[in-house]
Amino acid sequence: MSVHKKIKKITTHVLSEMKLKNEKIAMLTAYDFSMARLVDQAGIDVILVGDSASNVMAGNDTTLSITLDEMINYARPVVRATERALVVVDMPFGTYQGNSKVALSSAIRIMKETGAHAVKLEGGEEIKESIERILSAGIPVMGHLGLTPQSIHKFGTYIVRAKEEDEANKLIEDANLLEELGCFAIVLEKIPAELAEKVASTVKIPVIGIGAGPMVDGQVLVLHDMLGLTQEFSPRFLRRYHNLSSEIIGSVENYIDDVKSLDFPNEKEQY
Ligand code: KIV
Repeated sequence: MSVHKKIKKITTHVLSEMKLKNEKIAMLTAYDFSMARLVDQAGIDVILVGDSASNVMAGNDTTLSITLDEMINYARPVVRATERALVVVDMPFGTYQGNSKVALSSAIRIMKETGAHAVKLEGGEEIKESIERILSAGIPVMGHLGLTPQSIHKFGTYIVRAKEEDEANKLIEDANLLEELGCFAIVLEKIPAELAEKVASTVKIPVIGIGAGPMVDGQVLVLHDMLGLTQEFSPRFLRRYHNLSSEIIGSVENYIDDVKSLDFPNEKEQY
């Protein structure tokens, strides 16, 4: 039987086993109790409380403004709703870069106040000390390389990363470093499929792609994007499994009509 089916609780160890057995890892974001419960019931392997909450939940243009308190508030109900999936929480911008002691206390707050199972940090060599210190406290760390949205003002654009040799080489070095440090997995965002395949076959830890092609160990999407709750965002890598925005607008329009025409509530819908 596949590792995926027989496991009642996904751990970082299970994810390594899945890579060994070439079973793909399915990961999605969630930011609230109701959605997390559905996603977990459907059998997702990893739930990411992503700092994409800054965009899809709070309506900000970038992920930079979300705070540690906000991330903790999003993560706590997600953990409460989850029985099977591994829950990973993004460390927000400004809580881990530059000072590894601050990084550790931010990660400890996430683990203690949410009950999550791991944290995710964007970057390689430049955040080495923070990763080391967090790992030394026994907190599992997921890396994130390629397009790292917290550095949007450095890149200036969200276009595909690491197309040039220099940047591709740096990404491979960073992936190797993350593995050496002890990260349990790496997210690769928006990089050429060929490069992602190379990284996934070089490192032994699972590599989860978003816009990184099929030859990695798993895929992640933002839940609101794949359900079609967001309307404007449509990069090439995004597959929409539903068009919930038009379903919701249609339902609300019907409700408004029913209220205004006195169709709702009817005789059976009252006491
Ligand atoms: O914040 C997020 O949702 C993410 C995914 C895009 C990987 O980091």
